[in-house]
Amino acid sequence: MGDRTFGVGIIGTGRISGAHARAAREAGGTRLVLASELDAARADAFEAKWACPVVSDYRELLASPEVDIVALTLPHWLHEPIGIAAAQAGKHIFVEKPMADSVEECDRMIAAARANGVKLFTGHTEQFLAPNVAARKLIDSGEVGTTVLATDCWYKAFGVASRPPWFLDRSKGGGMWLMNGAHMIDRLTFLMGRRVIAVKALVQTRFHPIAADDTALAYLHFEDGTAATIAHTGYKDHPGAGVDHIGGEIIITCTEAQLKIVDRARLYRSVPGGRGGAWEEVPVERIDTTTAELRALVRNIVDDEAETVSVEQARHIVEVMTACEESSRTGREVVIGG
Ligand SMILES: NC(=O)c1ccc[n+]([C@@H]2O[C@H](COP(=O)([O-])OP(=O)(O)OC[C@H]3O[C@@H](n4cnc5c(N)ncnc54)[C@H](O)[C@@H]3O)[C@@H](O)[C@H]2O)c1
Repeated sequence: MGDRTFGVGIIGTGRISGAHARAAREAGGTRLVLASELDAARADAFEAKWACPVVSDYRELLASPEVDIVALTLPHWLHEPIGIAAAQAGKHIFVEKPMADSVEECDRMIAAARANGVKLFTGHTEQFLAPNVAARKLIDSGEVGTTVLATDCWYKAFGVASRPPWFLDRSKGGGMWLMNGAHMIDRLTFLMGRRVIAVKALVQTRFHPIAADDTALAYLHFEDGTAATIAHTGYKDHPGAGVDHIGGEIIITCTEAQLKIVDRARLYRSVPGGRGGAWEEVPVERIDTTTAELRALVRNIVDDEAETVSVEQARHIVEVMTACEESSRTGREVVIGG
């Protein structure tokens, strides 16, 4: 990676910030130098845990010459304005998924990054998860034939009481769809290795009296005529309302075998056995995804190459997510880019 050490600043010390602090310590060639947080209690807790100063005004962080890379671990509606400010300050950006709440916001962020010569890397964790990477390798090897279709189901309780207010409001980027639909579209496009060309979907509020979605069912039509489905809920929070999937269950049906990924942790493939077939676990090595993502970003900066998670892919995911919302509003299939 060379001799240079990149200073990392984290804006937003909420739920996911610890993963970024750990990554800054462990990636190699990076160090955590500063954070920014509006909530005093959260700022104090982060400062104590990570021995890192925390300022309340993010502009102070952006002005610091010690910060080279800014991790944006913020509510979704702030990704665009603070991302553009970071680009204008000349900082490389490691923005948590989704890149932004709309395609227009993505376009403005991409333009700002390109105009200021900085990288814009979106934390699409699913592309770094060990079982997904191993499944993709198996598919690419041709050993399981070619992909035919995929299903992705992820059911969990919404956890309304534990969610921050922005999460209950779509105008601030809230709802289960932007939070987890982003992961599901990311992993399906990554595993199938194709872009989505049209969608039909329901993205609705069925369980909770909130101004954001808690239910989604989507049909994704890929460019080669194959397809995938997504089912996702944030069901009621009382015991017995449902059974949580930690990270969902994906089944990819290929012409010669099926692959199954469970809870973002385990990969299985179909083998001869039982009445025609049985699942056999494929061992995979666990990795820290945020650390792997930060390492990739540092490599992209040092080698001045395109982001490992391309801006086109991150934008495509937002395009598909918002097309699903439009399909739900209109009751029609929505053609991507159409
Ligand atoms: N990869 C994953 O599996 C994963 C998991 C959880 C969250 N995320 C993503 O991480 C991002 C953050 O989610 P979260 O759950 O940590 O949210 P959160 O609400 O817990 O944290 C956001 C923090 O930003 C702070 N903040 C808001 N405005 C600010 C400002 N102007 N300056 C400084 N701080 C400010 C808030 O006070 C809060 O502490 C989202 O993009 C989310 O989708 C990813």
